[in-house]
Amino acid sequence: MHQEWKQIVQMDILKTSASCQAKIPEAFGKKAANAARNFHQSIAEYEKTPLISLKELAKVLGVKGIYVKDESKRFSLNAFKGLGGSYAMFCILCQELNLNPETTRLSDLLEGEAKDKIGQVTFVTATDGNHGRGVSWAAGIFGCRAYVFMPSGSAEVRAEAIRKAGPVNVAITDMNYDDTVKYAKEQSEKNGWHLIQDTAWDGYEQIPAWIIQGYLTMALEMTEQLEEENQVPTHVFLQAGVGAMAGGILGYLAEKYAGCKPVAIVVEPDAANCIYMSAKAGDGEIHSVEGMPSTIMAGLNCGTPCKITWPVLRDYAEYYMSCPDFAAAHGMRMYAKPVGEDPVIISGESGASTMGAVCLLLQRKELARIRSDMGLCEDSVILLVNTEGDTDPEGYEKIVKGDAYPLPEIF
Ligand SMILES: Cc1ncc(COP(=O)(O)O)c(C=O)c1O
Repeated sequence: MHQEWKQIVQMDILKTSASCQAKIPEAFGKKAANAARNFHQSIAEYEKTPLISLKELAKVLGVKGIYVKDESKRFSLNAFKGLGGSYAMFCILCQELNLNPETTRLSDLLEGEAKDKIGQVTFVTATDGNHGRGVSWAAGIFGCRAYVFMPSGSAEVRAEAIRKAGPVNVAITDMNYDDTVKYAKEQSEKNGWHLIQDTAWDGYEQIPAWIIQGYLTMALEMTEQLEEENQVPTHVFLQAGVGAMAGGILGYLAEKYAGCKPVAIVVEPDAANCIYMSAKAGDGEIHSVEGMPSTIMAGLNCGTPCKITWPVLRDYAEYYMSCPDFAAAHGMRMYAKPVGEDPVIISGESGASTMGAVCLLLQRKELARIRSDMGLCEDSVILLVNTEGDTDPEGYEKIVKGDAYPLPEIF
């Protein structure tokens, strides 16, 4: 690929050949997805989130379809993340009580002796916001307690949303994300709390695996919804922080559509592009982005890939996009001010990153060769996940109404 387009569009797109070599962990297959959904369905508030077809945008961008799984409608949480934390907490509580999570209903935990025991349990996590809000909400459902630590620079409004969601103590630290995770881990060891972290490392794998399985409820719903529409996705764009969500969903899709797997494109902020960097290094290993990365895509501001899902992303994704903040802002505005009769979708910075990437990719003349290399054409059916709504309402106002982070002049 020529270099000059990179300077013009100010983003990088790395191509690798998806070797499909890593065995897709069974943990991300249909059985696991069904178990997670059974749990989520037992929550009174449960409702499937919509899969929205942006017909007019698809026409304008010259593709057959654009489908958006709208996770801003997930429970009362404005983001997909609560699916993972709540399911992992459920599995931990079942383990504590010697119950089988596959046959236990939420109601079994909310009465008698189980209820009393659970009242003594404390969880702790480090979070940019959305995961913490899910943990807080789930702690309320289960009747236990939680501590939430946030990295430096986290918006106070996000901390407040976590406090409002459930019975938690929230503190914004002066550390970056990775160090905040270490701190939460230390606190869990010191106090006998359960660390409920949405990324994995050596020796800490079971809980993040449950979290990823919780995300599969979303994968199960969206593939069923696509089937109802008689659609098979040809391309899926997945945003990544540590890549737990992207890897879990991609693992599920690779199994579900074995033989006709959609082309997978991982989208990250250029300031915190640890999956892109790991893919670029080409040695098969995980690589971290050091320092205090700064990006408006708060949910994607992570320095180290998740160990469990990295092999799936490495071997089953074909492209890795490293995007500037203006791409996410553009995506937010595209969702907020749709083409013609397409419905409005409220999407925050991390949620809209893939929409911004798709629009720039399909519209910029400099990217024509890459588009064709990706096989993007009038027969393409693109699948996106709006992973969050306006989780930072002030930022949302500034970007959508005030036009902050505009596209550069050249666009
Ligand atoms: C809104 C949103 N989208 C995407 C992600 C990325 O998920 P992961 O860290 O599993 O890659 C996050 C993570 O917190 C998020 O909050």
